Amino acid sequence: MPTQRRAFPEDFVFGAATAAYQIEGATTADGRGASIWDTFVRTPGVVLDGDTGDIACDHYHRYAEDIALMGRLGLQSYRFSTSWARVVPDGSNVNARGLDFYRRLVDELLAHDITPWLTLYHWDLPQAVQDTGGWPHRDTVHRFTEYALAVHDALGDRVPVWTTLNEPQCSAFVGHIAGRHAPGHTSATEGLLAAHHLLLAHGRAMRELRARDGGLTLGITLNLAPVDPVDPGDDRDRDAARRLDGQFNRWFLDPLFRGAYPADILRDLASAVPDAANALTAAIHADDLRTIAAPVDALGINYYQGACIGATPAATPPPSGDAPTARGGRSSWPLPHDLHGHDRGLPRTAMNWEVDPAALTRLLHRVTQEYTGATRTRLFVTENGAAYDDHPVTEHGRTRIPDTARADFLIAHLAAILDAVDAGVDVGGYFAWSLLDNFEWAWGYTRRFGLVHVDYATQRRTLKDSAHAYRDIIRTRSIPA
Ligand code: NOJ
Repeated sequence: MPTQRRAFPEDFVFGAATAAYQIEGATTADGRGASIWDTFVRTPGVVLDGDTGDIACDHYHRYAEDIALMGRLGLQSYRFSTSWARVVPDGSNVNARGLDFYRRLVDELLAHDITPWLTLYHWDLPQAVQDTGGWPHRDTVHRFTEYALAVHDALGDRVPVWTTLNEPQCSAFVGHIAGRHAPGHTSATEGLLAAHHLLLAHGRAMRELRARDGGLTLGITLNLAPVDPVDPGDDRDRDAARRLDGQFNRWFLDPLFRGAYPADILRDLASAVPDAANALTAAIHADDLRTIAAPVDALGINYYQGACIGATPAATPPPSGDAPTARGGRSSWPLPHDLHGHDRGLPRTAMNWEVDPAALTRLLHRVTQEYTGATRTRLFVTENGAAYDDHPVTEHGRTRIPDTARADFLIAHLAAILDAVDAGVDVGGYFAWSLLDNFEWAWGYTRRFGLVHVDYATQRRTLKDSAHAYRDIIRTRSIPA
């Protein structure tokens, strides 16, 4: 009896994603400059085990082998990021040797019939640009646009899809308010200014790239999460959920798709952190929001988990999803931290993140209904995946990585996407995070998200069972029903 399967639409794209600092290594090769992550990882105590991205997966030297693996998986598209510090090491002058690496990478992808999906900024600002003020400083917007155009000069004829930013919420708030990511600052004012300038940099780069080539697919990737109040009947819980949703989701979606920051959060900021609110007001110039709201072709959604929030702490607080290096650290939010996570009894990954595929279906519906439905913007799930403790086993002299939980996670989330697609939501593709085990930021190498296992001592790559499962999904363009 053949098992029932659910099929994906013909134009649905299957891919996998990575990011420069997490995989490339070779941090001083061919004229690359330092990025804020090279600096940050050298601060004692901020990354678990003191890990750095100095070598990572050595992808800079092994890209051809890695693209061969993508070929074995049958990936249709590969989402990667370019390192700004490789391309513009000193923040001003373009480094041809840095661009050459991405030329080689893109050519190799095209030779394997894999569509390159390029992200310009996945968190690694050149240290030289940080030294002149970084994202809280308006001049960084101009620097970003120049960098974007330098990459386009080199690759514009071969890369059809361009994402400006990956998860600006993390760059702005986790980097400048919580201090858990580079540059490791803890200021609500800096966080709000950084978020505004990141969004403006997105809008300006969009405008320039669009003017150069109307045929490109352009967009941005946001990390989004449905936020539920622990007791929907309790006003204070509902208000806590509103505030988290406002700072996490709407703070980025509203300016991008409605040309305005959410009024309720602006009001909250004005009363709770008036200095930060005033600094933001002063930073918003007349045309900024119009620039930010330029239409995008692709909205990338990175989805990992939902949130259940209350106004008061749970009797048994859920396990923390933050790296232990953040203990005693601050929250990631510009508003004072009065939000409390509650456990729903859902299974959790090795990050302590809840496994909640149904929330992805709801998220896709919501974004369509409230933001993109009346536009030409297509949704893409540009990241989704899970860290689990993988244990390689050797059978008959061959190494296998049995990771059933990760394969189940992928299938459940692909099913959640199909639920939305079947109900009429336009989702154009799915990118598994990640192709390879890699440098998981403050968690260093302790958390493995890869479809492909990396033995960091030998740099040996081994397809996990989930990679085989994903290959079968791509080959049949279907999942088990
Ligand atoms: C989102 C980020 O874009 C990526 O860099 C990170 O590794 C994954 N989430 C998992 O935390």
